[in-house]
Amino acid sequence: MSTGSKPAPGATPGPQRVASSVNREVAVAAPGEFAPLRLGEGRVASSGVVEVWPPVVLAPMAGVTNLAFRSMCREYGAGLYVSEMITARGYLMGNRLTALLASSSPDEQPRSVQVYGADPVDLGEMVRSLVDEGVDHLDINMGCPVPKVTRAGGGSAIPCKPRLLARLVRAMVQNAGEVPVTVKMRKGIHEDLLTYEAAGRAAEAEGASAVGLHARTAAQLYSGEADWAAIGRLVEVLDVPVLGNGDVWESFDALRMMRATGCAGVIVGRGCLGRPWLFGELAEVFNGREPGPPPAFGEIVEVMMDHGQRLVDLFGETVGVRQMRKWTAWYTKGFRGSAAVRGRLMRIESLAEIRSIVADLDPAEPFPETALRAMRAKGSKVQSVKLPEGYLEELDDDTPPKGPRTLDEIEAWEKALNGG
Ligand SMILES: Cc1cc2nc3c(=O)[nH]c(=O)nc-3n(C[C@H](O)[C@H](O)[C@H](O)COP(=O)(O)O)c2cc1C
Repeated sequence: MSTGSKPAPGATPGPQRVASSVNREVAVAAPGEFAPLRLGEGRVASSGVVEVWPPVVLAPMAGVTNLAFRSMCREYGAGLYVSEMITARGYLMGNRLTALLASSSPDEQPRSVQVYGADPVDLGEMVRSLVDEGVDHLDINMGCPVPKVTRAGGGSAIPCKPRLLARLVRAMVQNAGEVPVTVKMRKGIHEDLLTYEAAGRAAEAEGASAVGLHARTAAQLYSGEADWAAIGRLVEVLDVPVLGNGDVWESFDALRMMRATGCAGVIVGRGCLGRPWLFGELAEVFNGREPGPPPAFGEIVEVMMDHGQRLVDLFGETVGVRQMRKWTAWYTKGFRGSAAVRGRLMRIESLAEIRSIVADLDPAEPFPETALRAMRAKGSKVQSVKLPEGYLEELDDDTPPKGPRTLDEIEAWEKALNGG
């Protein structure tokens, strides 16, 4: 794999750097410039503190950050690899798929799980159980913009009500023992209803060990540019570490974000879709080395096959292959001739078909620079956020919103969350 190191501490960019124009002149990290991320420092017993170097976190992504993908990413470089969101009700009712999504392997350390729930009793119970299972870090999703969720007062609607947010974080922290709890949120509902500063303070006051900020509003979904200045503002407001999130597409974006905002670590989402080697590049730049070029197409086919096999091992043949379809679009993005075969890739019934479908593409083609910042997974739509009737009239209310209770309701809910 061509993410090998070229040991040149403090190196200046070489002519061969594969980067978009904003990153061509960015210097790799200088010795001591960045510190490891320490989650739980001063909040949990020292034995529970999770130290992360480089200070890089794989974003929780539904339908994406299962054990198969996490294990691949981790092989490229160290970091904190968070599960996709696990719904509290589904987990507590022993839903088979939820349990699979929450699963891990003994070598996955630290083990990190993102939970989704809006009922303090459920959250407390779930957290106790996950801690008993040996989880090392817990995050709660308070940024989900999906209408089905916000319309019921969940997800990104929660930070509008700091007392409700506080109650949920408290329920987690009180049941987490030595395990650090972090909160992930967006800037707010829309530009005229920004909630992140008050919500961040409330989370910190309840013992959260860090706050992750996806620097977009719920109305923005994934469109436009993330507002890194908001990350900088949150760094000024809070004492606990702030994790910056939004638009880290290339390893040098992470350095730029940390330099511009002073945040303690970065959360990487869409940039790694079909590019797990990005974590190798991140490790290189944080360790002061110029990363090698990304893999050429032929190597990427091997990565893709490996990924497919891991998905089949986790989910079984039928579901694993179906899951792999979307990944083939991300892995092949931008390569010559890939658009013409994408339709067939979206219909594969076996992993072996992938090889034959891409057989005519050039294995020597280098990774296209245009694919570095190409939109992956989510489009550029925006939305008008749906909130419960009268929701904004009672912002001091801490009553938990109603969530799904029956298995059918939970399944419908999880499907909607996967779409978000
Ligand atoms: C396919 C997909 C699924 C996502 N699922 C979750 C999730 O389960 N929990 C969560 O907190 N955020 C979720 N997100 C949001 C990401 O964690 C991240 O905040 C967002 O993509 C912005 O980061 P980026 O600009 O690096 O992509 C999801 C994003 C994508 C693209």
